[in-house]
Amino acid sequence: MNAERSDGPPRASSAPSGGSAAHAVASVGASGPRCDRTPAWAALRTQYATAGKKLDLREAFAANPHRFADFSQDAPHVFADLSKNLIDAATETLLLDLARQCGLEGRRDAMFAGDAINRTENRAVMHFLLRNPAPALMQQAQTAPENIANELVQVHETLDAMLAFAERVRADAAITDIVNIGIGGSDLGPQMAVLALEAFRQPGKRLHFVSNIDGQELAGVLEDLKPQNTLFVIASKTFATIETMTNAASAKQWFEAHGGTDIARHFAALTTNVAAANAFGVSTNFGFWDWVGGRYSLWSAIGLPLAIAIGAQGFRNFLAGAHAMDQHFRATPLAQNLPVRLGLLDVWYRNFHGFSSRSIAPYSTALRRLPAYLQQLEMESNGKRVDLDGQALPFATAPVLWGEPGTNGQHAYFQMLHQGTEVVPVEFVAIKRVARSLPGHNDKLLANVLAQAQALMQGKDDGGGHKHFPGNRPSTFLLLEELTPASLGALITLQEHRVFVSGAIWGINSFDQWGVELGKVLARDIEPRLQSGDTAGLDGSTAGLLQRLR
Ligand code: F6P
Repeated sequence: MNAERSDGPPRASSAPSGGSAAHAVASVGASGPRCDRTPAWAALRTQYATAGKKLDLREAFAANPHRFADFSQDAPHVFADLSKNLIDAATETLLLDLARQCGLEGRRDAMFAGDAINRTENRAVMHFLLRNPAPALMQQAQTAPENIANELVQVHETLDAMLAFAERVRADAAITDIVNIGIGGSDLGPQMAVLALEAFRQPGKRLHFVSNIDGQELAGVLEDLKPQNTLFVIASKTFATIETMTNAASAKQWFEAHGGTDIARHFAALTTNVAAANAFGVSTNFGFWDWVGGRYSLWSAIGLPLAIAIGAQGFRNFLAGAHAMDQHFRATPLAQNLPVRLGLLDVWYRNFHGFSSRSIAPYSTALRRLPAYLQQLEMESNGKRVDLDGQALPFATAPVLWGEPGTNGQHAYFQMLHQGTEVVPVEFVAIKRVARSLPGHNDKLLANVLAQAQALMQGKDDGGGHKHFPGNRPSTFLLLEELTPASLGALITLQEHRVFVSGAIWGINSFDQWGVELGKVLARDIEPRLQSGDTAGLDGSTAGLLQRLR
């Protein structure tokens, strides 16, 4: 493997704000009508009171033999059965009215046009550009508006350079271990995807993911490594995140202390902050742009570990699956648009049924990090209490998202899902044909996922006692034919766009994350106090705990 400098996009595109498409377009103007002030919202309230809250799934199936067909949806690489949800045709019609009255299509089109829809940071939101296949990219560059055309060429060049580097790493037998150091979007996406596509991973390359600042994680990984066989990938959009910088510094220290000499060969950076990466001593850098949010960055250079694992063609297939779902979201009428239907269902459950969480149940060990990935995607995007204009909202936004792979979850918290006092909609993800299994296992797995969805809905009458299952508990069933790079790309993009839909209805900025800042600032103040013992100005609890922790 030859170390080389590949700075990706020029610095101008790497500026922290306004350095790219955002500068070419006006910030999006005043938000549309607030969802709770639309006629559709009022109609949905009535619908909920008169029909929605009484809807019984068992009766709905008995009354409509076509319910499965009526409430299922094909989308690229993903089939969705929505029929076990607490909806009927009238509710879906009203939800679609709500979408139109809130200007969902306009908001979607503004994103795809490269408008600065991330208003608090005056940034465009264009992660979808990263997954346009190369020929389409180049063709679009001829005709796209100026703000997008400029970016398209750089996207294509950076992707090619990143994939060429990935191929060189794959061909380099001396590199056996790749350690991704990053956190949040710079960890969850690549980690989730590498695990999901384990069956496609090149043998002989081990991928490790270190995110936590606790030291234990990195120390544990380093124990088994040799500098000459290791490539460290420092993944950080900002190259300023304390966890990543601390781990990167310790990795570099370990590397040098164990005889490593060639930093250029053994360290690469994935960042928009090329200057900081250079200052750290890394000369191999693959950049991206300020219009790629951290939790949407898997498609960018942040995907390097995945590209190393599954190869350039595999990564292009991953992007192609995502692109197919982008096209579906962009062009399919709302009533048959799967991200739209899922996002509207989320609004129905959150704001009318009042369900405060959703459980995600991938029946696949390969998808074991999907719930964690989706937690950041949904809760960092839509965990907001003010609208685009900064006005407090009187209605609920993002639900709590949680889950574990099936069937493990069945032996832990499914008790609560079946018989607890809270109704929690469950989203099952099942894979028809698995790449790796043992005889007899997959049918058992699939029987279980079907049975759980069935049991939640049907329940079991036992006179209300300990063995009584109330049933009528909703679930969505997402089905992939196979878990491949393309289907994973489509599944993730589906989730991105459904989060966009609910965020657009609620009128919030799904693309900033100010809520993570305060804790970071306070930690900077507290850290030196752990040494000095200074508790001046601290509240009583923090002061007391700090004393105990010294
Ligand atoms: O603190 C939250 C966050 O900014 C996430 O949005 C982001 O994915 C993560 O930190 C990591 O940020 P970076 O890639 O800049 O290190």
